[in-house]
Amino acid sequence: MEKSGSSKHLVNPDDVINNGKELLEAQAHLWNHIFSFANSVSLYSATQLGIPDIIHSLGHGKPITLSQLISSLPINHTKAPGIFRLMRILVHSGFFGLQKLSTSASDHEEEGYVLTDYSRLLLKDNPLNSAPFLLAMIDPLLTHPWHSLTTWFNNDDATPFATSHGKSLWELGAIDPKFNRMFNDAMGSDAQLVMKVLLQDEYRGVFDGLESLVDLAGGTGTVAKAISEAFPQTECIVFDQPHVVAHLEGAKNLKYVGGNMFEGIPPADAVFMKWIMHDWNDEDGLKLLKRCKDAITSRKSLSSSAGNKKGKVIIVDMVLENQKQDKASTQTQLLFDVMMLGLLPGKERTEKEWAKLFADAGFTHYKITPLGLRSLIEVYP
Ligand SMILES: C[S@@+](CC[C@H](N)C(=O)[O-])C[C@H]1O[C@@H](n2cnc3c(N)ncnc32)[C@H](O)[C@@H]1O
Repeated sequence: MEKSGSSKHLVNPDDVINNGKELLEAQAHLWNHIFSFANSVSLYSATQLGIPDIIHSLGHGKPITLSQLISSLPINHTKAPGIFRLMRILVHSGFFGLQKLSTSASDHEEEGYVLTDYSRLLLKDNPLNSAPFLLAMIDPLLTHPWHSLTTWFNNDDATPFATSHGKSLWELGAIDPKFNRMFNDAMGSDAQLVMKVLLQDEYRGVFDGLESLVDLAGGTGTVAKAISEAFPQTECIVFDQPHVVAHLEGAKNLKYVGGNMFEGIPPADAVFMKWIMHDWNDEDGLKLLKRCKDAITSRKSLSSSAGNKKGKVIIVDMVLENQKQDKASTQTQLLFDVMMLGLLPGKERTEKEWAKLFADAGFTHYKITPLGLRSLIEVYP
């Protein structure tokens, strides 16, 4: 019998594109996908080189020329032509703009680079600086697992990350302080941006009236710090792995507690989880939700005479297919889900998948409020 590996199944001639134009279009689509990683690495390199900060500090809002940019860059100057090419794709993708310089000297109109809203998000002095997130996500430690995806499909490892590094992401963080810092800074930079939005009038009501809140697996505490400052009456606890919160100092209504969230969660009116549920598979996600339910129902209310007070769980995570989204947003969500496939045992979930988990954990109802690509989900016992 012929081995399946060596059998030949000729493609049906009807399935082969014969039309030259269609053939080239199919090839172009293929190339776009083959090379789309170059979008990430170009942005990564420009950020490592400090290009957004240089345009910001040299230009003061005015365009800076390619030669000004090159002379400020810490590069081998024989490589200068590469900077033009790097900038060309980043202008194309909207990270930088090109503006005419106002020169009266000649009719030769020179152009210069300016920042856009996207590259302003990468400035060191921007309190919402997203560069730590970009630099961590494209770091070889987090991108190497992509090359293990196919091997992982054939082995027993929990994640492609484990196939690449021999341990889980959390285990690597526990033994590699540099990786731990890079990852926590990345999370902190996202948390900063999310809190800027969540504390605006449209959303901040979600925290009203809470006497206490646990930011579960809250990293180095960016979320809890923002809530504790905006709501001085709310006692906030940041709960995370001991090596993440070690040496961090609390404040008046902010406390750091180290521990394993699967073993117990401090009681509070609310448990907040940003980017936690998507780290875990359904089995562990369910365990966590049950722990959260215990934590929010076991606290005796100081103000209520009705005995145990029932609180809520507040989740910030994606809900797939939850709204009429444009194609680009859906693609970003699906890319994020595949990123999770590479790094952790978790996944992004549809509303149906969320609802099943909430019901299985014994919650009675939930409310979803869209928050860009993610959602704010309030879950009630
Ligand atoms: C994706 S990060 C999110 C951090 C933070 N919530 C944010 O969004 O900025 C997940 C966090 O879970 C923490 N974590 C992982 N396993 C944990 C465990 N068993 N107990 C407590 N925290 C844990 C990690 O240390 C990390 O800070």
